[in-house]
Amino acid sequence: MYSIKECRVIVEDELLKLASEFPPRPERLFKPIEYILGIGGKRIRPILVLLANNLFDDKIDQALYPAIAVEVFHNFTLLHDDIMDNSSLRRGQKTVNELWDDNIAILSGDAMSILSYQLLNKSNPQKLPYILSEFNKMAMEVCEGQQYDMDFEEMDEVAESDYINMIRLKTAVLIAGSLKIGAICGNASEKDANLIYEFGINIGLAFQLQDDYLDIFGDQDEFGKRIGLDIIARKKNLLLIKAYELANLNQKELLHKTINSNSITDDEKVEIVRNLYLDLDLKQYTKDRMTQMYDKAMLSLESIDVEVNKKTELISLAHSLFNRNA
Ligand code: IPE
Ligand code: IPE
Ligand code: MG
Ligand code: MG
Ligand code: MG
Repeated sequence: MYSIKECRVIVEDELLKLASEFPPRPERLFKPIEYILGIGGKRIRPILVLLANNLFDDKIDQALYPAIAVEVFHNFTLLHDDIMDNSSLRRGQKTVNELWDDNIAILSGDAMSILSYQLLNKSNPQKLPYILSEFNKMAMEVCEGQQYDMDFEEMDEVAESDYINMIRLKTAVLIAGSLKIGAICGNASEKDANLIYEFGINIGLAFQLQDDYLDIFGDQDEFGKRIGLDIIARKKNLLLIKAYELANLNQKELLHKTINSNSITDDEKVEIVRNLYLDLDLKQYTKDRMTQMYDKAMLSLESIDVEVNKKTELISLAHSLFNRNA
């Protein structure tokens, strides 16, 4: 059985190999790809592909190309996401749109999307149609989620159920799809492949909740992204949605005025909203919602028809995501 650590080493090696094969020119197309793949990241999606595969099969080499494809696809979404969110910091480094510009990030992102399909195309030909249809489904859903995320910027109040649907699409399906693709590579039954997908959806939802939480309560050096960006970009994340719901009239007015203000600095905005979140006990609320999702995820994992001791790495990865600061 492969450990998380071993999977991470395998993924990092393969990514380095991939980058070493990029053509030297046009430099401003390939350098940003090498850059974004080279500045770190937790690599959880490709690790999940490998671990899910390893749950059903002792060998993992047949899952390696799909794993790398998923990581390249994820990094492509980050290049475009950072333009959409006007972000200048990721993984503790300048974003591609900041270091180069938006057009470069668009085109390098496009190339990465194509690259992810080139990698997928190297999968076991017998599995390829199934892998591809799963990959296509999740790729389209990420676009849908990203559009809802932007639509919600323009809205004052968003229902929590609409928010959950949005993060299921923008974040959870990529995590769930990674697990399902790994399971397909490992010859899992359809029932088990669907159970691991459900596990992934709930882990993915909790993962985005933690991202929302760290956006306001994280440490910038550890998180590697600018703290408070969701407030600045008027994102409707879980904390803001719940704050609108729980706030009294005065607090609601303060929240509305702060988020839409043109006269105070971004840092002031973030500070006011953070204090309001603390007053409304939203740290606890977010953690409670995450626990519910985590428990649900574990039920799906338990139902998978594989000995429990084979599930330890997946459990431990889910656990580390739950407690992450980065
Ligand atoms: C960032 O994903 C985008 C979200 C879905 C929140 P990660 O937190 O997995 O980013 P890296 O790859 O580790 O940097
Ligand atoms: C990320 O959501 C979802 C995708 C990249 C598809 P966020 O916009 O919250 O991710 P970060 O915080 O920039 O990593
Ligand atoms: Mg975004
Ligand atoms: Mg973003
Ligand atoms: Mg975020």
